[in-house]
Amino acid sequence: MITVPVALGERSYDVTVGDGASSQLAALVATRVRGARRAVVVTDETVAAAPWFAGIDPGLPFEVHAVRAGERAKTVDTVEALCRELARAGLARTDVIVAVGGGVVTDLAGFVASIYHRGTAYCSVATTLLCQVDAAIGGKTGVNLPEGKNLLGAFWQPAGVLCDTALLATLPAREWASGRGEMAKYAFLGEPGIGELALDAQVARCVELKAATVGADERESGRRVLLNYGHTLAHALEAASLAAGGDLRHGEAVGVGLVYAALLARRLGRIGDDEVARHREVVERFGLSARLPAGLDGIDRKELLAYMARDKKAAQDLAFVLDGPHGLELVHGVDAADVLGALDELGDVTCT
Ligand SMILES: NC(=O)c1ccc[n+]([C@@H]2O[C@H](COP(=O)([O-])OP(=O)(O)OC[C@H]3O[C@@H](n4cnc5c(N)ncnc54)[C@H](O)[C@@H]3O)[C@@H](O)[C@H]2O)c1
Ligand SMILES: [Zn+2]
Repeated sequence: MITVPVALGERSYDVTVGDGASSQLAALVATRVRGARRAVVVTDETVAAAPWFAGIDPGLPFEVHAVRAGERAKTVDTVEALCRELARAGLARTDVIVAVGGGVVTDLAGFVASIYHRGTAYCSVATTLLCQVDAAIGGKTGVNLPEGKNLLGAFWQPAGVLCDTALLATLPAREWASGRGEMAKYAFLGEPGIGELALDAQVARCVELKAATVGADERESGRRVLLNYGHTLAHALEAASLAAGGDLRHGEAVGVGLVYAALLARRLGRIGDDEVARHREVVERFGLSARLPAGLDGIDRKELLAYMARDKKAAQDLAFVLDGPHGLELVHGVDAADVLGALDELGDVTCT
């Protein structure tokens, strides 16, 4: 088992990575949420039906509340429904919420924890690769609005996170690929060899990189924004996919977004062809495509531009994390013509 500390002063906690890590849940709750008398486990319907789910034990009397699986559950309506269920379950402010699932569940349950009784403790058992390498760590919680991804949320740190790699045995191939898409960004964030490590070491290294960034900048006033590499276009693609009834995965969108960020950086004279080729290689080596998946080919580029302009990084302009001579940095005031031009280079996007 590998333990990675997230150093945030009095909000510090550990992330435990490895085969069987979820068996430490009861001990985690007992040591980190002292005084809790009951727990509510928040999960989704697919995870609740997994063969290993019956072994999840917070060590206290608990109820399970399962939301529908997938990104469409990440809404304000689900937050209200969950909060009402917590109230009916009699969960007190001193009790604990346990998120068991992927990034949708940890974002939702974490946000609910941040507002229920003005703040209740929560822990996470991360059950997708994407959640283990990123979503469960760092305390960013929230839900989507029809206007864009993650527009509503709070910073609320968990009391601990368990990344049990054995639970990934039931993960479908497409979700593995999506997790690799999120992992690919760490190849540009300090670990070029991330693809070569064994699974547990790979997850732990991603957690270390994320923990170091979050520890230095919990509320994203500086360095933490770099974790959004590839995400400006990715979030726009996800929002467009949701609006069109599609099911684009977060990591699939990030794969496209990383290559797009390289094309945009080249247009702005920040990097050359070699770096663009490196981005394509990394994305391909992780088994992802830089092309838009079926259903999103032919998407209107003006629609994407509107989503990108509403991105949280943008302060009334178009802002992107871009590679350059000094590595990754946040670049404000990117011209809409360049944003659209780089979309054309990506292909598959309608020119209207
Ligand atoms: N808060 C953050 O810092 C952060 C970072 C990255 C991503 N995110 C968010 O995370 C979300 C994506 O997370 P995700 O990719 O984990 O999606 P997800 O939670 O929807 O999980 C993907 C699918 O896998 C299923 N599943 C989960 N664990 C399983 C298992 N062990 N076996 C079988 N099936 C399993 C789920 O039911 C779901 O259908 C997005 O909403 C994204 O915005 C948040
Ligand atoms: Zn992401």
